[in-house]
Amino acid sequence: MAAPTTSDVPSNPVEHTQVLLRRLEQNGMPTADAEEAATLAAQLREVVRFHDRKYYVEDAPLIPDSEYDRLFHALYVLEEAHPELQTPESPTQRIGGEPLDAFEKVAHPEPLLSLSNAFDAQDLRDWYDRCRQGLAGVLADDEPLHLSAEVKLDGLAVALTYEDGRLVVAATRGDGQVGENITRNARTIRSVPLRLSTPPDDGLPLPERLEVRGEVFMRRSRFDAFNERLRERGDAPFANPRNAAAGSLRQLDPTVTAERPLSFLAYGVGPAQGTVPPTQSATLDWLTRMGIPVSSQRARFDDIDAVVDFCEAWVDKRDTLDMEIDGIVVKVDRIAYQEVLGAIAKAPRWAIAYKFPAREATTTLRDIEVNVGRTGAIKPEAVLEPVHIGGVTVSQATLHNADYIADRDIRVGDTVVVKRAGDVIPQVVRSIPEARTGEESPWAMPARCPSCGSAIVRLPDEADYFCMASDCPAQFIRLLEHFAGRSAMDIEGLGSKLAVLLAEEGLVTRLSDLYDLSKDELLQLEGFAEKKAQNLLDGIEASTAQPLHRLLTGLGIRHVGRDVALRLVHAFPSLEALAEASHESLTAVDGIGPVTAESVVDWFAVEENQSLVEDLRSLGVNTERQPEEAPPEARGDAASPIAGATFVLTGALDGFTRKEAKTAIEQQGGKVTGSVSGNTDYLVRGQNPGSKLQQAQEREVTVLDEEAFRDLLEQA
Ligand code: IVH
Repeated sequence: MAAPTTSDVPSNPVEHTQVLLRRLEQNGMPTADAEEAATLAAQLREVVRFHDRKYYVEDAPLIPDSEYDRLFHALYVLEEAHPELQTPESPTQRIGGEPLDAFEKVAHPEPLLSLSNAFDAQDLRDWYDRCRQGLAGVLADDEPLHLSAEVKLDGLAVALTYEDGRLVVAATRGDGQVGENITRNARTIRSVPLRLSTPPDDGLPLPERLEVRGEVFMRRSRFDAFNERLRERGDAPFANPRNAAAGSLRQLDPTVTAERPLSFLAYGVGPAQGTVPPTQSATLDWLTRMGIPVSSQRARFDDIDAVVDFCEAWVDKRDTLDMEIDGIVVKVDRIAYQEVLGAIAKAPRWAIAYKFPAREATTTLRDIEVNVGRTGAIKPEAVLEPVHIGGVTVSQATLHNADYIADRDIRVGDTVVVKRAGDVIPQVVRSIPEARTGEESPWAMPARCPSCGSAIVRLPDEADYFCMASDCPAQFIRLLEHFAGRSAMDIEGLGSKLAVLLAEEGLVTRLSDLYDLSKDELLQLEGFAEKKAQNLLDGIEASTAQPLHRLLTGLGIRHVGRDVALRLVHAFPSLEALAEASHESLTAVDGIGPVTAESVVDWFAVEENQSLVEDLRSLGVNTERQPEEAPPEARGDAASPIAGATFVLTGALDGFTRKEAKTAIEQQGGKVTGSVSGNTDYLVRGQNPGSKLQQAQEREVTVLDEEAFRDLLEQA
């Protein structure tokens, strides 16, 4: 086949992509004919650049990664065969060169300033009043002062200089006056365009020279996977995405940087030769049109009240993003007004950073206690010198498991870093060995259950130690809490305190005792009067009508969370039918594997459990499947297990990119969020899962591997 001549080149890049892919399929690459090779290389570069932009800038890829890889590879092969075709801006030329001995210094033509901080709404309003005062000569009292607000990315500031649309220098911020030349490293970051696109005819041509300012950072998901890889190789993991980004960008060998999953987002421009837009918000739109990625988490406002709302809303939403943000930057939108306001010392008057409350603090680890969960898992918990973190006093935090403590050499008496992220339980992140006095003592898992005194064991393939006693009081208290909890029987008023009280007073020693409680018994309990007792009895009575999958979830059978319970109830119309089910009939149920099947069979084989089921039924608790729990086939589309469910993704999947997985979920009416919370229904785990996996396990969120995820999609 002859090379397509310019006249047969489709002007639409999507169509062009397909033409090139077909051509690759039929003829392969490269070509011996120099002229043909030159045409093809130019076309491939154009198409690869187009898809880079779709992916990195617009966050809307059009082709699967595999097709992109084929185009990229073809270009690479072609340029190898015809080195004269290589241009410095070719997408294949991101990596190259020998390691440096040191970074060259770069003087910034205009300093990169820092920002003053606002810690609350009042600080923001005071700043706004100062801006209005400063603009009194140019802005009438009744004229609105437009503001632009953007997320403040927690990474490293860099300045990218483009000349005639080509990236010529990338520099770190340094001290604001002089930075380091990291051009070769910046070129390896896929979201940094090597060449700018000419903005569509909107009156502003490509400037002759333009400094783009922005932040280099590592996405949280990439960071988790990257750290996991480091750990597997036996290298020390990074403490947070910011350190990982800094360590990666300041590598003297660009091939090392190239392997690090860095991203870039611009937030403004520095000096320019050429015309630039008149406002901050228009500048960011303009950068996007030139192919430079900017965050979409930004907005323009007419007054400070709306800005305050925007900032405060982000305090709770920060964990929904796949990147760390530490605040919101608010800027006077009009550049002419920014110039009137100018700067004081090192920060501009026209911008301010609203800082989120800190989420990490250091304190003393007073002791490590162990807690017994309802499955008997023994979990170490930190007893802390109380410390204020993000508006809450924290005196306890999770230490996950014995390996976690040993791997990090955390000792009783240590000064430790404690983190409270979103609605995740506070956790001890690491210790600070430098602060040791010699009084600290290493910790070991106790040999006996703190509740019942029986020996505890570590099961193969489990990170946790377990108390195996079936009559362990602590396990029963946790089970009772779980049974009454929101995902199970949802009994109002029965929380952990009351569970302890009911169990310790001997009023409830097995789950069915709940349905036998009398008002007189309750009235003898501390803190109970007529009304409270009646409310609790009403709540218990109401729970007898709960759908079967909730009862099944509440029984606390290992591996039977809400999702598995639903699947089981689809297949078996009553608790009695399930009790009779064989291992084979259980594994025949979609989504039920041999481990879960065994756990179910074992549970129903225990005589005590059989009599529990019988007692619950005779006390009026519903043990039959209800119509809305019938299998999806019988209910129509609304029953898609994905519709309405919230997913979190962690690690790399083989058959999907992140985006493909997200789209697939969203197409079925599900939602994908960035972090595990009380609302998460499923965690999809790929290879090298991050800390989200552990968080999901702690919250007993259903974890799907790629195959189970695929099955779920198929069902939907
Ligand atoms: S504006 C003169 N906008 O925060 C204006 N900075 O504390 C200064 N940063 O060094 C920069 N996101 O690295 C601006 N949307 C944003 C930002 C942002 C992150 C960083 C930037 C700067 C530091 C200032």
